[in-house]
Amino acid sequence: METTNRVGFSSKIGFVLAAAASAVGLGNIWRFPYLAAEYGGGTFLIVYLILVVTFGFAIMITEVAIGRKTGLSSIGAFRKLNRKFAFCGWLGLLIPVIITPYYSVIGGWVAKYMVTYLTGHGSDAASDGFFGSYIGGVGQPIFWLLIFVVVTCIVVVAGVQKGIEKASVILMPILIALCIVISIYGLTQPGALDGFVYYVKPVLSKFSGKLVLAALGQLFYSMSLAMGIMITYGSYMKKENNLESSVRMIEVFDTLVAFLAGLMIVPSVFAFSGGNEEAMNSGPGLMFVTLPSVFESMPGGHIVGGLFFVLVFFAALTSAISLTETIASVIMDKLHWRRSQTVLLVGIFVFVVGIPSSLGFGVWSHVAPLGMDLLTFFDFISNSIMMPVLAFLTCIFAAYVLKPKEIIAEVEQFGVTFKAKKFYSVMIRFVAPVGIVAILISSVMAGLGVFSW
Ligand code: PFF
Repeated sequence: METTNRVGFSSKIGFVLAAAASAVGLGNIWRFPYLAAEYGGGTFLIVYLILVVTFGFAIMITEVAIGRKTGLSSIGAFRKLNRKFAFCGWLGLLIPVIITPYYSVIGGWVAKYMVTYLTGHGSDAASDGFFGSYIGGVGQPIFWLLIFVVVTCIVVVAGVQKGIEKASVILMPILIALCIVISIYGLTQPGALDGFVYYVKPVLSKFSGKLVLAALGQLFYSMSLAMGIMITYGSYMKKENNLESSVRMIEVFDTLVAFLAGLMIVPSVFAFSGGNEEAMNSGPGLMFVTLPSVFESMPGGHIVGGLFFVLVFFAALTSAISLTETIASVIMDKLHWRRSQTVLLVGIFVFVVGIPSSLGFGVWSHVAPLGMDLLTFFDFISNSIMMPVLAFLTCIFAAYVLKPKEIIAEVEQFGVTFKAKKFYSVMIRFVAPVGIVAILISSVMAGLGVFSW
């Protein structure tokens, strides 16, 4: 059933680029910089980098290998390997179901900014209070949410993902180049060098359990881990392609984009605000508030701003496509519905469920579970709770049910050697599961006020 239509990637680079197109998105450009700003810059950066090369590496290898071994997407893959773990596949599906609606709300914000710049109103975007009053509105953000959902669904129904992915191969390097240009400009502004130091220099006193949990959640989110996506991509990968080096390339690419996005945003916020704590903690709005003021002061800034938001829009779209496709493909497999019918249903769901996240910044701001606005709440539940739990289960499954030797054998085919196999075994058996549980427990305890570090 799920094995049909596995066309497969024609080459290793095809796999790497498609997985990178899913991985590089709002997580890198919007989410990473605001977390880095909020959690003390360099301290967050260092913790994040350590997690990428340890936990991120081990879990991504595991997921891609499970997908390639079974040739199935996540629900079928877990079931085929061990019936008792089939629920992991379902849990993996639940996460995109929570993420896609609020992801699309932010996609809508990006669409609005893109059109604002392209229609020559860039100065409005840079004016004080523009962002707050825009997201606090009712009709406008819902309208742009709808536009984003419709565009995503059209691409998924038309089955032109391949075209979009090809386009993103060209657009992604342009995005990187643009981030470098904007960063260089930002760093030459008065006060930005202090911001640069803040962004890269770790400060021990800023280290906390909450920071590690935020970095861990960001890692899963950014690398599209712990939600079945990489299992699905792995199922399309050819046996003779080198799995380990492919995973390394995705990691490097994804982390580079996040690092550059932070470099573009964090030192500038620092410079504009003089390191003011409130500005550094402005959370989800950071990209939408800081960058427009950078563009405003930059020669040709409106053109750069327009181009920037077009590229971010594409990055968000490719990620939203893979999220939507994941949900739709399960429904199509199980219920045998037509693609157009399924995507219409998923689109309606995403739009309707996205509305509360959008209203949470305005008329529904009084609804604040755990003291968070609704969008931040959904983001927290999926990233800081559900993903670590699923990542933990995946480690346990790979280490003690399937056994690392099975994963290693999957990597080592056609004469390929798994260079980091010892490291992998230790990570997946001990360090990753113990680390994830420790981080989860400490943050829950801190949340309950039992203790905090
Ligand atoms: N990794 C994406 C990002 O960083 O924006 C988010 C994401 C996209 C997660 C697609 C999962 C996914 F299937």
